[in-house]
Amino acid sequence: MAKLRVAMAKGRLAEEATQLFQKAGIIIPEDIFSSRKLIFKLPEADIEIFLVKPADVPIYVEYGTADLGIVGKDTLLEENRSLYELLDLKFGACKFALAGLPDKKKKLQQRKVATKYPAFTRRYFRSKGEPVEIIKLNGSIELAPLTGLADTILDIVETGRTLKENGLIIFEEIIDLSARLVANRISMKTNKEQIDRLLNSISRAMGD
Ligand code: PRP
Repeated sequence: MAKLRVAMAKGRLAEEATQLFQKAGIIIPEDIFSSRKLIFKLPEADIEIFLVKPADVPIYVEYGTADLGIVGKDTLLEENRSLYELLDLKFGACKFALAGLPDKKKKLQQRKVATKYPAFTRRYFRSKGEPVEIIKLNGSIELAPLTGLADTILDIVETGRTLKENGLIIFEEIIDLSARLVANRISMKTNKEQIDRLLNSISRAMGD
């Protein structure tokens, strides 16, 4: 039987994901976060983990280079790839929201929206029939309305602390997000047994 290849989003999600794997009885190499290696073999579980940037997880999985992926729903919505979403892993809970300075709330026509998620933002406003100019940024999105670069931001809100400490408010909550286990469509057929086994042990570990 072929081993399962799992693409995991580096960072916070990978830490929680590896904890969940351990709980599910899968032994994770100790050096997974200290080493510069990119592939980690878990021979006992017949699994290989690839550590990649979050936005690359859906790409590895869609191409079938990885059978499974662990990544945030924010990234899945942005990448909009053809994958199976198998399980809501519940950790990494946050939401997409529109936010800005309190006095801008009423003047939302023809606005400029800053975001790290331009594709999702475009689809979202198109579905509402609202014309907007999207400004793609790479981080510190909350700075955009403070400096006049944009009127609104579409960003992740987790605790709400960043908004609060910068005097911004939520205009609209869009969708709840969290980490997801996703699968390649063909692997779902060719590796069904192994995927089902992993899915069951992860589901059990989540219930414990
Ligand atoms: C994310 C997001 C917000 C912040 C929200 O940024 O873009 O800025 O976290 O979290 P909070 O509601 O708990 O304050 P991240 O930390 O990923 O850094 P970035 O600004 O570099 O994107």
